[in-house]
Amino acid sequence: MCGIVGYIGAKNATPIVLNGLKRLEYRGYDSAGLAVLTNGHIEVRRDAGKLERLAALVEADPVKGKIGIGHTRWATHGEPSARNAHPHLSTDSDFVVVHNGIVENFLDLKEELTAEGAVFRSDTDTETIVHLVERYYSLEHDMTLAARRALKALKGAHGVVLMSSHEPDKIIAARIGNAGGVVIGYGDGEMFVASDIPAILEHTRRVSFLESGQMAVIRRTGVEVFTLDGQPVEPQIHTVAWDPIAAEKGEYRHFMQKEIHEQVRSLTDTLAGRVDLDEGRVRLPTLNLDEKTARKIQKIVITACGTASHAGMVGKVLIEHIARIPTELDIASEFRYRDPLVDENTVVLAISQSGETADTLAAMEEARKKGAVLWSIVNAIGSQAMRLASGCISMQCGPEIGVASTKAFTAPLVDLYLLAVLLGDLRGTLDEARRRKLVADLALVPDLAGRCLDRESEVAEVARSLKNTRDALYLGRGINMPIAYEGALKLKEISYIHAEAYPAGEMKHGPIALVDRNMPVISIAPLDPWYEKMISQVEQVKARGGVVVAVATEGDARVEGLADHIFWVPETPWLLSPVVTVIPLQMFAYHIAALRGLDVDQPRNLAKSVTVE
Ligand code: F6R
Repeated sequence: MCGIVGYIGAKNATPIVLNGLKRLEYRGYDSAGLAVLTNGHIEVRRDAGKLERLAALVEADPVKGKIGIGHTRWATHGEPSARNAHPHLSTDSDFVVVHNGIVENFLDLKEELTAEGAVFRSDTDTETIVHLVERYYSLEHDMTLAARRALKALKGAHGVVLMSSHEPDKIIAARIGNAGGVVIGYGDGEMFVASDIPAILEHTRRVSFLESGQMAVIRRTGVEVFTLDGQPVEPQIHTVAWDPIAAEKGEYRHFMQKEIHEQVRSLTDTLAGRVDLDEGRVRLPTLNLDEKTARKIQKIVITACGTASHAGMVGKVLIEHIARIPTELDIASEFRYRDPLVDENTVVLAISQSGETADTLAAMEEARKKGAVLWSIVNAIGSQAMRLASGCISMQCGPEIGVASTKAFTAPLVDLYLLAVLLGDLRGTLDEARRRKLVADLALVPDLAGRCLDRESEVAEVARSLKNTRDALYLGRGINMPIAYEGALKLKEISYIHAEAYPAGEMKHGPIALVDRNMPVISIAPLDPWYEKMISQVEQVKARGGVVVAVATEGDARVEGLADHIFWVPETPWLLSPVVTVIPLQMFAYHIAALRGLDVDQPRNLAKSVTVE
């Protein structure tokens, strides 16, 4: 949560910082601000609300300089107001900070610093950091040493970027714990720092990442990285393959719509190099999995949050069915507080788009302490969830900017299928014919997804007729039960319509009482092994006057005779059916929210990377 950008070089920092923040606004949009070093002093512009307000402020009162930092905020301590917006200045306005995380000991620090004469101008925990740096600078007369001492005094997890008018040749950045990433970008005579790659992608693709407990001193010509104890560390430079255009909206109205449509490409890329159709085999070299390890696994625990956890629910069905390994889905925020039963024969598999979700990382840490084998399926290159794991499957999605996850849901569904086939192959639970069939089916996926997307106008039509509904119920069974959860989550998070999901078989145990003629019941009923059961559920809903919106297989006359509205999907091998059944539900939520005039890409109260607990 919170986006951070910094620039040092020969150009004007202001537009570079503003543009970087624009790419990061999905990380928080309660307020935005920037600070630029100009003529030997620090100028700050900041305001509550979205970035456009900051841009207007800068246009009305321009500021120029060759070193600058900026921030877009998702409020934790202190209401979202201009005075609480970052950057925050020290008492003498010689130091300035932007920050992602929570200073857990801020009340004690604030008391101490106030007693020493520091003047606090905001209600934030962040401001303590800059006063600490000022305090230690007066003792050390060296910004790097002062920053190090200040950082060591903080409790909690942090991403921090600082600069000072005393030492105008540098920006200091640090990462402590799992409050989100800090990425450093290498330009030609200029350097960048940010909390996420898209912020700097238009300037450079050469990046390195700070590990927890590391601090970087960034100058125009390069970077020095140290541990918080001052030990030098050699940064590893990676080249990011993402295309900067991938972080643009292009012809689409919203990133979410663009990302829904990018699924044909992301699914194609997910298969590329991993599926050998001639041999009928799957290859996942980055998982570092051999036959011996595969045979040793007694249990797999998938851990994740939100949409990623819904992918994990599908993963349970896939891995148990294909590889016959007992598999559980454990919500990451619950896992770590339950003293979970995992050991060295357990694989804990984290799924995360951002790779920075605090709860997911904490679950991974807990699993590591207990000796489990750690794997991850992650989109953000270089993120902590990627680095913590001994094996990783990289989602081939490119940047996902819309807060509601779409392409980073379908890609891991296919990754989990690939994993299940690989495990089944290595453990000998698949005979050759079955393995070849499972692999051959994969090749159909991008085209099947494309056929769902071709029906967008039909989905939009249904959205038009239901856009004023107050509630919705989503039902599914078996492998498509998680799709009910995912469909309901998409609707509630961007349209603010109350939506509930249930395993359809549970209806008779209570929720059916909700059904009346005002309740749309979205029933996911493709031709899969649970089809007959779903049909009888749909009949029960119809018998009670409910409005049925069915997700059904093209040509299904039975569903056609029952449902009020239908989202048709092409016939798909059932183990892959969630990839297609979710697409109309993504489009449905998108169109309802767009028709209601809501901010689809930046829904209220949400942020893309949830780096606080
Ligand atoms: C919903 C959504 C969230 C995320 C969740 C986990 O559309 O995007 O529910 O799935 O916050 O995020 P990651 O995958 O980054 O760990």
